[in-house]
Amino acid sequence: MRKLLSLFLVLFSVMSSTQSAADKIVIAHRGASGYLPEHTLEAKAMAFAMGADYIEQDVVMTKDDHLIVLHDITLDRTTDVADQYPNRARDNGRYYAIDFTLEEIRGLNASEGFRLIDGERVQGYENRFPMGSSSFRVPTFEEEIQMIQGLNKSTGNDIGIYPEIKQPEFHREEGKDISTAVVNMLKDYSYTTKEDKVFLQTFSFAELEIIKSEILPAAAIDINLVQLIGGESSYAWMLEADGMSKLAEFADGIGPEKGLVIERSSTRGNLNITALVERAHAAGLQVHPYTYRLDPGQVPDYAEDFEDLLQQHYFEADVDGLFTDFPDRAVKFLQANQ
Ligand code: G3P
Ligand code: CA
Repeated sequence: MRKLLSLFLVLFSVMSSTQSAADKIVIAHRGASGYLPEHTLEAKAMAFAMGADYIEQDVVMTKDDHLIVLHDITLDRTTDVADQYPNRARDNGRYYAIDFTLEEIRGLNASEGFRLIDGERVQGYENRFPMGSSSFRVPTFEEEIQMIQGLNKSTGNDIGIYPEIKQPEFHREEGKDISTAVVNMLKDYSYTTKEDKVFLQTFSFAELEIIKSEILPAAAIDINLVQLIGGESSYAWMLEADGMSKLAEFADGIGPEKGLVIERSSTRGNLNITALVERAHAAGLQVHPYTYRLDPGQVPDYAEDFEDLLQQHYFEADVDGLFTDFPDRAVKFLQANQ
């Protein structure tokens, strides 16, 4: 009886969603990062083969102004920089990508993310690809675009890219205009209109305003922009009743932390769906929350399992797409619900 009831609930929410499953998208978060080390070309190729609609790149800049694909502005969580350059950390003990040339970064070994516990390297997600196995590199943004566009050509697909400008204020303090460099790279690779398959994202509203009002016009292009929204108080105004309409002057979509869509205090059968998606849609904004993971402890208690979580967010909360480390599961889920 309970199974029948949940089946009915799934069917009802799919039918009452304003969008069909075919219109909803899967964004491969740092690639197929649940299976291969994040932001390696291997993880991106796997995400492509799994049928993701968009593949994410976090972008930071090197000392010699190259754009690389790396989540952190530091290299020490995902590479062996500390082994190869033990004397190049800043006073805080961290190894900043911006202090290294591309040639130096190309020589690093990339791996599954880890943290130091009592001097030991401990893998962040223990069920994922074994840290230190095989051989991976930190790619440039250009190499990754070329690979995705190359795969689009060889497979006949049209998979998009979803770059995030990482810590633009930090880059400016270091004398680097990363946003202009990213926009120029996008233009070089023919991402120039809102019809092209790119979303450019940032957590910084100040930077979003600069991109929209100065950098895109200077490059004479106009692409989709996404404002990321975290849980910090600096984002509080975006969650007020008029926050989405204010954002819509600059953005085409939002990327909220998923707890801003369905409250973490929700319980089984009693979801607290916030007003965020409804307000965003009313303002004409798409909603792509992050990050959906199926590692132990990563599925919130209000969901029975990962697919239940997808159903709740895609169809009950009605998001337009979502960032996941496991794009194959989201692709299969949407296919099964068409
Ligand atoms: O950009 C969406 C999501 O990736 C934001 O979180 O920290 O993984 O970049 P983060
Ligand atoms: Ca990101």
